[in-house]
Amino acid sequence: MSTLPTPSFDDTKHHLRIYQGDCLEILAAIPESSVDLVFADPPYFLSNGGITCHAGKMVSVNKGDWDKLPGPELGPVRARFEKVHEFNLSWLAACQRVLKPNGSIWVSGTAHVIHSVGFAMQQLGFKLLNDISWVKPNPPPNLSCRYFTHATETIIWAAKNAKSRHTFNYKLMKDANRGKQMKSVWEIYPPEAWEKRFGKHPTQKPVALLERILLASSHEGDLVLDPFSGSGTTLLAALRLHRYALGCELSAEFLSLSLRRICSNLVQVEISVSVLEISFASLDFPVDPPCNSVDRSKCAASREGLCRGRASARRASASERLCSAGVLSARVSSRASVAPFAMRRGICFSYMSAQLQLVQLERRFYFIGRADRRVIFSVLADSLEEARQKFRASGRSDSDALFIIQTETSIYLA
Ligand SMILES: C[S@@+](CC[C@H](N)C(=O)[O-])C[C@H]1O[C@@H](n2cnc3c(N)ncnc32)[C@H](O)[C@@H]1O
Repeated sequence: MSTLPTPSFDDTKHHLRIYQGDCLEILAAIPESSVDLVFADPPYFLSNGGITCHAGKMVSVNKGDWDKLPGPELGPVRARFEKVHEFNLSWLAACQRVLKPNGSIWVSGTAHVIHSVGFAMQQLGFKLLNDISWVKPNPPPNLSCRYFTHATETIIWAAKNAKSRHTFNYKLMKDANRGKQMKSVWEIYPPEAWEKRFGKHPTQKPVALLERILLASSHEGDLVLDPFSGSGTTLLAALRLHRYALGCELSAEFLSLSLRRICSNLVQVEISVSVLEISFASLDFPVDPPCNSVDRSKCAASREGLCRGRASARRASASERLCSAGVLSARVSSRASVAPFAMRRGICFSYMSAQLQLVQLERRFYFIGRADRRVIFSVLADSLEEARQKFRASGRSDSDALFIIQTETSIYLA
């Protein structure tokens, strides 16, 4: 067995690690039967000159070189698809080797790749458990008008082999579905604006989808592997749900995006903890009510009256962010530089440069309610006046707020 390279990101406190490189090489160095759960979102191989609709405009499908079908030098289409199938067979076999006997794997994909994935799983002796239809409530229109609008992605869930006794948190899923068995059709919005504030990945998955998957099929402290970690969504969900996680990513650009997303979440947790102490000592704030991060789908949102159109969905996501990141009901002004912070928390970055790069600067305003002294509204804004305008625009009056807390967070990539 080869040795693992030095990880590009290693947070020993939260057990999160990302390796930059080809997952086939990295997987070969991971010990056999050591991983509880795999989530994989492999290349779709659809960046080959087609067109799609983005933000109402016709654009070419070009997600990057990593998503291109092997070139014409490989001969006819059949040979190229055989190459893709060979690739799917090899990374799936590598994942199967590192899965524990009772471990399971989820693989998402569109029609371009998912049939090859499913067939490869059958060839390798995985036990197919479910194929989930992830329904996107607001898909872009089909511009050619020659097909139905593409509104779903398939996610195959499979156990390591026929003998596996896979984890399924049945009751948790049933409770999240108002006491009814959860179906294999999941209606979940694609990533919202707040999930892309550090940059975009062309095939980024929503955190809510990964949270559902992790909650359904793993326990706290389990090790989750994502061989194509992209913008780090799986690692972020693992951090929020107290799972350990390991990612592989080829691209330095997407690796850096993952770090920005994960570090921001770590900083939020750090700030929250310090606020808890201040809150109880001086202000006597209650903490936010526990957040139900089990089901953040469209249906769950509408059940709670949070999902009346895009604007209200955005409001929901703001409170979700507070709740599910473990952020408490108030915060204090704080500056955090990832480098010293990382050292305090036992995070080490392999590449430290002399120049710190400011990757995020945000000012957030928390409006504490007069009636119950909880956060009743929070918003990102450049000034207090802008925040107050947004507060009023949300339908509240000035007198609803007892006071306002401003926090400022600067994150530097070392
Ligand atoms: C479909 S995207 C995954 C997106 C991810 N689920 C997210 O939420 O951001 C696939 C990713 O795999 C990476 N990739 C492609 N081939 C790879 C390989 N052989 N080893 C590691 N990463 C690879 C690509 O750079 C891309 O970021």
